[in-house]
Amino acid sequence: MPRVKISPSILSADFGRLNEEIASIESLCDYLHFDVMDGHFVPNLSFGAPVLARLESKLPSHCHLMVTNPEELLEAFAKAGADMVIVHQEVTDDLHGLLEKIKSLGMEAGVSINPDTPVDVLKDVIGEVDQVLVMSVHPGFGGQSFIPGALDKIRALREMRADLSIAVDGGVNAETAPDIIAAGADIMISGSFIFKSDNRTQAIASLRGE
Ligand code: DX5
Ligand code: ZN
Repeated sequence: MPRVKISPSILSADFGRLNEEIASIESLCDYLHFDVMDGHFVPNLSFGAPVLARLESKLPSHCHLMVTNPEELLEAFAKAGADMVIVHQEVTDDLHGLLEKIKSLGMEAGVSINPDTPVDVLKDVIGEVDQVLVMSVHPGFGGQSFIPGALDKIRALREMRADLSIAVDGGVNAETAPDIIAAGADIMISGSFIFKSDNRTQAIASLRGE
């Protein structure tokens, strides 16, 4: 089994020292997870493309758009240097068109589903996405508990496409990671467990099962 990849969510980092926070962990990680919240799709606000543009990181940025109008933000994220944009299936009737637009702007295209959304809704686009992100909490806040139903979804997605990149987001920590990896996910997104840890190096290693 290939080594799992780690994508730290900077939602749980100190926003006043974001570049220092990233520098403290980036040599140990594979991607940077950038959580964009609009106060409509989720009951919280975070940050947007201008903040991404000012981040000093060599890691590929995966931008998780928890917003009702992702198509209106795509050009700004492309200009800010986003490597991947992940949109929510729940906000669009034309998922194929939205994914095409992301790719036409030179970014990778991912799709996320909420805990109450079944994997079947992705069957028409599964062959064209660069990543599926399974939400294992209701989006909006860091520090919530992992919803075990996400494990069945990971298994089902792995059955649907063997080479699919499957990321898991919400409540990912040393206790939940082994089951998530065993179910077939390859990207562990983790915020509070990494950034609130006294030993970030050890926390990240434990997510890889080391
Ligand atoms: C939740 C976000 C997650 C969140 C994960 O809406 O999409 O990326 O930051 O945080 P933890 O790891 O604390 O559950
Ligand atoms: Zn996220």
